[in-house]
Amino acid sequence: MLFCCIALVALLLVERSAAQQSFPSSAFTPPEMCGRCHVDIYNQWSQSILANAFTDPFYRARMEHAVRDTDGALSDFCIRCHSPIGVFAGEHVPVDGSNMSDIATKGVQCDFCHTISGIDGVSNGSYINTPGNVKRGPFGDSVSPFHNTAYSILHTRSEVCGICHDIYNPNNGLQIEATYTEWKVGPYGKQGVTCQDCHMTPGVGVTKPNPGQAAIGGPQREHIFTHDFTGGNVLYGNRELAIERLQGAAQLALKLPPRAPVGDEAQLEVVVRNVGAGHYLPTSLTYVRQMWLDVRVRDVTGRELLADQVMYNTILEDADGVHDGTVSSWRAVRIYRDYRIPPAGEVTERFALTVPSDAQGPLSVTAVLNYRSADPTMTAAYGVAEFPIIEMTRQEASLELTAASPAASGIPTAILRSLWWVATAALLIVSLATVFWQDVTSGKK
Ligand code: HEC
Ligand code: HEC
Ligand code: HEC
Ligand code: HEC
Ligand code: HEC
Repeated sequence: MLFCCIALVALLLVERSAAQQSFPSSAFTPPEMCGRCHVDIYNQWSQSILANAFTDPFYRARMEHAVRDTDGALSDFCIRCHSPIGVFAGEHVPVDGSNMSDIATKGVQCDFCHTISGIDGVSNGSYINTPGNVKRGPFGDSVSPFHNTAYSILHTRSEVCGICHDIYNPNNGLQIEATYTEWKVGPYGKQGVTCQDCHMTPGVGVTKPNPGQAAIGGPQREHIFTHDFTGGNVLYGNRELAIERLQGAAQLALKLPPRAPVGDEAQLEVVVRNVGAGHYLPTSLTYVRQMWLDVRVRDVTGRELLADQVMYNTILEDADGVHDGTVSSWRAVRIYRDYRIPPAGEVTERFALTVPSDAQGPLSVTAVLNYRSADPTMTAAYGVAEFPIIEMTRQEASLELTAASPAASGIPTAILRSLWWVATAALLIVSLATVFWQDVTSGKK
């Protein structure tokens, strides 16, 4: 049994670690060169988080922490998806970037993605590249004066994203990021709505018509894929779109009783629906990302009667059984808690509201869903920019109060119940007596 487990883990590790190829960084063409003809695409990409995947201060600080914390063991791993060209060229060591050529600092870039010629599994940076004059893409009929082109079905599929958007801890095979897997087993994966359909299209939602030219001098095409790669990060790239995307991802519904009784308890329900994300909400670094529901109830004087929060995230556990929310992904051996909203799914949260006997109606109920890329204590500890809180969606309603129910009037229930029996019995006797009296009187006639 133990042997089987070890064999399985070994197999997984072999399968998940990319066959590392090596190329000098000069084998790749700088993105600025591609941008001479692919002007719009370059402008979108160059401000995106993918262009900043290596220079991003948050990544740098956390990667240096990871490498320190593992005595250098992760220096080849973390960078694999953040600067693939740096890894090909072996320029990623030392991790402070001092050995990196200019092109290697440009993150996940044009010539890296468009020379991917195959994959070796779909995780942990399992890309296989053939750098050179052939640029691979979705067209099949395109002609360029600068390079050769080749049709690549891979570029039209989610797997080309999944190679970096599914991550297993290289030490123990624990899956710590699962955006691709979440998508694949979910309804969008089954319907074939790809990552590109949502993340490489203008605006929010699924692919919209975007006619235009892919390059200066290229033909007019029915559809061009955008390259801003917007997710939930509002510090890079198209911030307005990132906010819109977050706001289009979820909906809230309040389920309230018709009235809330003064001096008693009422049950409130809030349904949180993932209506826009093709994966769990939130996804990816869910042990760092924060999404939370904030529910408040106030009476008409503004007094707060309820203030409660529910966090949607993942909590990791390390080998010592610690699961206090501070365990880093590289030390994790187990997922302690995973509470998030599946694609096209929903969760219902229940709150017990105690209405004080002096509360004044109507009550106002507010439910807000918030998102933040990381906790401010974490970004402060790394000395990097704090992420703002983005309000994803909110619902408000007012709730009328009703007079105290008998059970809440302070008289013990047992006494109330006896009183009820006495009253019922009395009513019965009176009715019987009436019937008897009528019989007697009619008999007289
Ligand atoms: C298999 C590819 C891959 C590997 C290996 C990888 N990352 Fe990432 N990393 C990603 C992807 C994809 C994202 C973007 C996910 C998102 O933003 O939702 C990301 C995002 C991040 C972010 C968030 C940046 C931000 O501004 O929000 C940090 C920090 C980070 N990675 C650190 C690390 C560290 C530290 C390691 C090594 C332990 C590592 N990464 C290894 C793919 C990878
Ligand atoms: C993360 C990988 C990635 C990066 C980085 C990237 N592309 Fe793309 N690109 C794609 C994918 C995937 C498609 C095809 C999408 C589809 O068909 O579903 C594409 C499509 C294209 C096309 C075809 C026209 C279109 O948009 O549909 C061109 C031209 C292109 N990219 C050029 C570039 C240039 C120039 C850069 C750098 C400025 C770049 N790409 C950066 C992945 C990437
Ligand atoms: C001198 C101008 C020029 C430069 C520089 C240039 N391209 Fe192109 N590229 C074109 C034209 C023109 C097309 C054809 C567009 C079409 O068919 O709609 C094209 C097509 C493409 C396609 C689509 C291929 C397909 O069959 O789907 C990709 C991908 C691409 N280029 C990537 C790149 C990358 C990456 C770079 C930089 C390494 C680059 N290009 C540099 C002009 C250029
Ligand atoms: C070579 C690895 C790699 C590939 C391939 C890749 N990504 Fe990423 N992606 C990253 C990294 C690394 C980041 C985060 C960079 C950072 O935060 O420092 C990221 C970030 C993103 C984000 C932004 C997340 C946020 O927090 O806002 C989106 C959206 C995204 N990628 C979509 C895609 C799509 C769609 C594809 C496929 C067409 C793709 N990626 C292919 C590595 C990759
Ligand atoms: C149906 C549309 C849709 C599809 C399909 C989709 N996404 Fe997303 N994605 C979203 C929305 C909406 C958000 C913003 C909400 C959020 O952060 O989860 C998002 C957010 C993200 C983020 C940022 C998460 C964070 O909090 O840092 C990444 C990374 C990402 N998507 C990658 C992918 C990849 C990779 C695929 C394909 C395997 C994919 N997405 C498929 C709609 C989609």
